[in-house]
Amino acid sequence: MKKILILGCGGMLGKAFYEHFSKKYIVEATDIDLNEKWLKYLDVRDYKEIRKKVMDFVPDFVFHLAALTDLEFCENNIEEAYRTNTVGTENAAMIAKEFNIPLVYISTAGIYDGKKDLYDDYDVPNPISHYGRSKYMGEIYIRRHLTKYFVFRAGWMMGGGKKDKKFVSKIIKQLQKGKKEIYAVTDLYGTPTYTNDFAKNVDHLIKTNYYGVYNMVCGGNASRYDVAKEILKNLNLSKKIKLTPVKSDFFSKDYFAPRPDSERLVNLKLRLRKLNKMRGWKACLKEYINKDWHEKL
Ligand SMILES: NC(=O)c1ccc[n+]([C@@H]2O[C@H](COP(=O)([O-])OP(=O)(O)OC[C@H]3O[C@@H](n4cnc5c(N)ncnc54)[C@H](OP(=O)(O)O)[C@@H]3O)[C@@H](O)[C@H]2O)c1
Repeated sequence: MKKILILGCGGMLGKAFYEHFSKKYIVEATDIDLNEKWLKYLDVRDYKEIRKKVMDFVPDFVFHLAALTDLEFCENNIEEAYRTNTVGTENAAMIAKEFNIPLVYISTAGIYDGKKDLYDDYDVPNPISHYGRSKYMGEIYIRRHLTKYFVFRAGWMMGGGKKDKKFVSKIIKQLQKGKKEIYAVTDLYGTPTYTNDFAKNVDHLIKTNYYGVYNMVCGGNASRYDVAKEILKNLNLSKKIKLTPVKSDFFSKDYFAPRPDSERLVNLKLRLRKLNKMRGWKACLKEYINKDWHEKL
């Protein structure tokens, strides 16, 4: 069996990656947050420790998932954001290059400025937040210095159950607290991305030598309001909970980091190469809610 070293595997995407890849590969899963017994401590800011791990484990692939993913935290802690998201990525890339190991890096739709309606893989990024910029600088380093790499750009991530820090869990946690009215924004657009489909599609790609940058999101696109509506529908709560549309400035105190109006991606390159295994976001959301959330309400 081939071996994969995963950096930053303790989060919502890491859960899906561990579940998928540990069935077919020998996986060494690492993070700084040891929230599972299968995780080992490794900090991507620590070049020497990553290098030591790579020399000991001798992986066939390095998957780099580690990041500070809270946009507001990144705006308030700018140096920390670049130390982890950019310099941490440079560390992983330098070591992958030294040992000639293909590197998988997870980038984000948040590297665009949102002025276009829809972004394909060839659109030129122009990040407007420190999170987006720190992730994009990591992407640029990889693209300039490596030849064997996959950069996968994900959209609004959904998955991970109790590890989900993002929109789906934020809505469901309000419902768990007994809220009868939910506010959701209508003027921010994106492409939901199911962690389980993402893991499967990454597995599909690493079996090829088609290195490069790929958008990798679910089919279709949505506003936050559309996603909230679909969550309520899947929980049979559409009639019981009032869903109120608002503009993004309604949340500007809590969510003060700049966000692109549109983070909609299309998987153009995956489609052109006939490698797109991502399903539509509504089917994925339905599966995710049935699997991870139904019993918790
Ligand atoms: N979530 C999204 O909507 C989204 C969208 C597009 C792309 N992505 C990218 O997808 C990847 C996985 O994100 P995710 O959604 O799974 O986020 P997540 O749940 O926040 O997972 C990221 C993991 O990285 C860990 N980490 C932070 N600093 C680290 C360090 N110095 N060394 C090692 N691990 C460290 C985090 O630990 P702590 O919890 O202690 O910080 C966390 O366990 C990231 O690269 C992210 O930028 C995410």
